[in-house]
Amino acid sequence: MDSVRAAIPLAEADPERPVYHFHPPANWNNDPNGTIFHNGWHHLFYQHNPYGSIWGHMHWGHARSRDMVDWEHLPIALWPSIEKGENHVYSGGAIKGDDGRVRLFYTSIGKRDPEQWMAIPLDEELITWEKHPRNPVVSLKNHGAKSVFEWRDPFLFREQGRVYMVCGGNGNDMRRGGDGQVQLYRALNADLSEWKHLGSIFENRDRRCPNIECPNLFRLGRKWVLIISPHMPCEYFVGDLDLERARFVPETRGVLDPGSSYASNISFDDKGRTILWLWGRTATKPDKGWNSVMALPRILSIDSAGFLCQTPTPELSKLRGEPLRVPTTELSGKPLALGKEFQRDTLEIEAVFAAENASSVGLRLRCSKDGKPGAEIRHEVRGGFFSVGSTR
Ligand code: FRU
Repeated sequence: MDSVRAAIPLAEADPERPVYHFHPPANWNNDPNGTIFHNGWHHLFYQHNPYGSIWGHMHWGHARSRDMVDWEHLPIALWPSIEKGENHVYSGGAIKGDDGRVRLFYTSIGKRDPEQWMAIPLDEELITWEKHPRNPVVSLKNHGAKSVFEWRDPFLFREQGRVYMVCGGNGNDMRRGGDGQVQLYRALNADLSEWKHLGSIFENRDRRCPNIECPNLFRLGRKWVLIISPHMPCEYFVGDLDLERARFVPETRGVLDPGSSYASNISFDDKGRTILWLWGRTATKPDKGWNSVMALPRILSIDSAGFLCQTPTPELSKLRGEPLRVPTTELSGKPLALGKEFQRDTLEIEAVFAAENASSVGLRLRCSKDGKPGAEIRHEVRGGFFSVGSTR
């Protein structure tokens, strides 16, 4: 934490750093981990390198918020137990046990095979954590004769009074691709320290996918949703979960976000909402004292055709100031002549487009004097995709 504190002045001096997306006080972050709503707080843990602004030395950073807009940074929750041969605390999830106590699960990485470890809180505020004496709670041995490669990223859910875990991985030796897998386990005791492997519930045959990372499997209304991070934009599948046969049966699918967000996690709040968290990757140079953010939290639902819908949490509107209005204009590629009041670094833009015959519509923002766009937000009318790109 001293090392994070020391990097704060450099990180805060960078005018390019986002101001309303969650980010650590300084240095590197990647995946959201163990997202959980507990005792009135949204808890967000995240992959964090406290020692620099590139990936490395994976710890779990921690913050909490009442509204997912204003955040309170808390002490680092988990760090590698070097004395036990652990070098990284990789991604994972959280769940409340039958005793009401939250537990964190993560992949422990060392100079040995990956293992799934559990941590238990020493206080109700979830600030101080202890690793369970029975770690590893799941190891490759749980798979019997079955080989799973690149095995990691536990995600937990509860169904009909029992607790389940899914982990990502790959069924072949990594070089071939085309056999990304999601493994399913069921807890055998109330302490959640003993698990039974139920089988591979889903395979991704896409040859470009070497292994599935960060699978999330959860109930949404009357359906089940599986989200995977396949080293390409995250994909979702909506369908049914057959726990008897240990199979997930997809009915519809889609790209979760074609931009550069990745490694999803899920939480459920007291308003009955299902919240999607994503790592917002940024193309930040390593000498800025920071790197990456969290994407804005989104509320998930399923539309009448069975596809996944996402809406930014309405709480974000509290960041709005006085609205500025632009009259209806014909967009023809020419810069919009807007007044000085628009020349700000942080604006929320709500735009309604009449696409007519255009194949894509969008906005180019922060253009230079010679018209070079700093960032382009484009909606492909036919594909239904949004893309956000920086050409800087
Ligand atoms: C996804 C990921 C996870 C892993 C973590 C390590 O971005 O590669 O599979 O647990 O990041 O930081």
